[in-house]
Amino acid sequence: MKIRSFRNSRQRLFCWALALGLLAAVMSAATVTVYAQSLPPTAVDPGPRPGPQPGNGAGNPIAGLPADQVQFWIDGLILFGETVSVKGTVPNEPLLGLGPAFNGNSCLLCHSQPAIGGSAPPSNPQIGIANLDGATNHIPTFLTANGPTLEVRFLRNADGTVDGGVHDLFTITGRSDAPAGCALKQPDFATALANGNVAFRIPIPTFGEGFVENVTDDAMNANLAAQGVVKAALGIKGRFNHSGNDGTTTRFGWKAQNKSMLMFSGEASNVELGITNELFNNERTNGGCATNATPEDNTHVIIPTGGNAGDDASQISSLIENFTIFMRLNAPAQPCDFFTSGTSCQPLGAAALRGKALFGTVVPPGTGAPNTGIGCVLCHTDQLTTAKSNLTPLSKVNFNPFSDFALHHMGAGLADGISQGQAGIDEFRTAPLWGAGQRVFFMHNGQTSNIVTAIALHASPCTTGQVCSEANAVVAAFNALTPQQQADLVTFLRSL
Ligand code: HEC
Ligand code: HEC
Repeated sequence: MKIRSFRNSRQRLFCWALALGLLAAVMSAATVTVYAQSLPPTAVDPGPRPGPQPGNGAGNPIAGLPADQVQFWIDGLILFGETVSVKGTVPNEPLLGLGPAFNGNSCLLCHSQPAIGGSAPPSNPQIGIANLDGATNHIPTFLTANGPTLEVRFLRNADGTVDGGVHDLFTITGRSDAPAGCALKQPDFATALANGNVAFRIPIPTFGEGFVENVTDDAMNANLAAQGVVKAALGIKGRFNHSGNDGTTTRFGWKAQNKSMLMFSGEASNVELGITNELFNNERTNGGCATNATPEDNTHVIIPTGGNAGDDASQISSLIENFTIFMRLNAPAQPCDFFTSGTSCQPLGAAALRGKALFGTVVPPGTGAPNTGIGCVLCHTDQLTTAKSNLTPLSKVNFNPFSDFALHHMGAGLADGISQGQAGIDEFRTAPLWGAGQRVFFMHNGQTSNIVTAIALHASPCTTGQVCSEANAVVAAFNALTPQQQADLVTFLRSL
């Protein structure tokens, strides 16, 4: 194999990766010229596959739960789907505590694709709630009917100091259930947009969360350290975000900024819906609009009514505890190869299996092993094991999130200017790929619906003074695959 002019060691690594990719691509390579700038991908994304998932896939409780836990999960699911109004008095909007500012009026609003608990649906329901019940909100231009549901952060405050926080899209001003005198204004999104002061995030599906919560830090660290030589050669590092409170790894959110399902439930209740709760007990904004007693969501000290223990536990528990139980007991998305039959879920067929091998690890030259993969799996870890758990189906089991839950530098192309915990402005948690087959929008800001484009977006040029994307070498190897191999890899991804 003849490799053209290297200029520095980084390019050498880059080309080494290309060479590995090409080894897989061109089994009978005689003389191949490898260019540092490889060709763009050719594969076509077939789009989200239809249909429900096989067995206990996304949208179901984890298989093997006892009946009372399944009942608690069902009760949590119902509350996750229920609509919030300001005082809980509007018909069909039974939950209390909307606003004063909000991005949604139920958890389900943003988490519904392909089932309750999922990610952003194909058409954006946020448009429909802007003026619900008399609310007088303007719809910001970045919110579109066929775009993803969004949450917006501002990079800087008006005085130029660092902001980084979520600015809610809507307020309750004008709603029939808003208190008299409530006149909270929406933020000035037009100016923020014009000044490049915005960063967008889309929802992350909540399937399989109980497994992710219950991996030890030791297991996380060991997984990140594994295959160190191969990772180093490809420029892949990764590090964890940590809790400022107890120092353990945090795993949830696009920057792995959040510790647990309970923490995310508390934060989302207050930030997305405006419901103050036992974790986040103060309103974020007021403007004469916040007149409910706080926290609006409480643990209910009632005498159980008898019957199913799951129902009793749900009724006593706060909303955030119900949301937590629902998400913790959500089954993970299951692989489904829709391509072999075209009509139903089948186990992975030949094309998807070839794609799975290509997704797999890179074997260093000289080890005698076949070079089957291009190394997506070096970040998108295919298997982790849970610790001992009181919930039997979550105890000491393997699961397949396709993520190391670590932060990686993704370069200037994906950088969003936001720091959270130890995560810097271009660092993101490896997005778990379980359920990718049914996702409509990809990447932290939902900028593409095309899974091939999502791969291309991982790469970022390394010009002077900029941090490179840790995924550059792997993406170059993907680009160097044959069209058939790229298509096989996409078939695998759309079968997850
Ligand atoms: C307006 C849309 C919207 C609504 C409503 C919403 N979310 Fe989300 N959700 C998001 C976005 C955006 C993210 C990614 C946030 C981030 O990482 O900064 C997210 C992420 C999450 C995650 C992290 C999942 C993971 O694996 O990392 C959980 C858990 C979650 N939401 C739970 C909830 C709950 C519970 C509710 C209702 C109380 C809710 N969300 C309401 C948009 C929404
Ligand atoms: C260096 C680590 C790394 C490597 C290598 C890597 N990824 Fe990723 N991947 C990430 C990160 C981090 C994100 C989230 C980035 C963002 O949203 O800005 C991501 C996001 C994705 C997404 C979008 C998922 C979503 O929820 O929106 C897909 C699809 C994906 N990767 C596929 C691949 C494939 C296929 C490969 C191999 C060709 C690969 N990745 C290699 C780190 C990596």
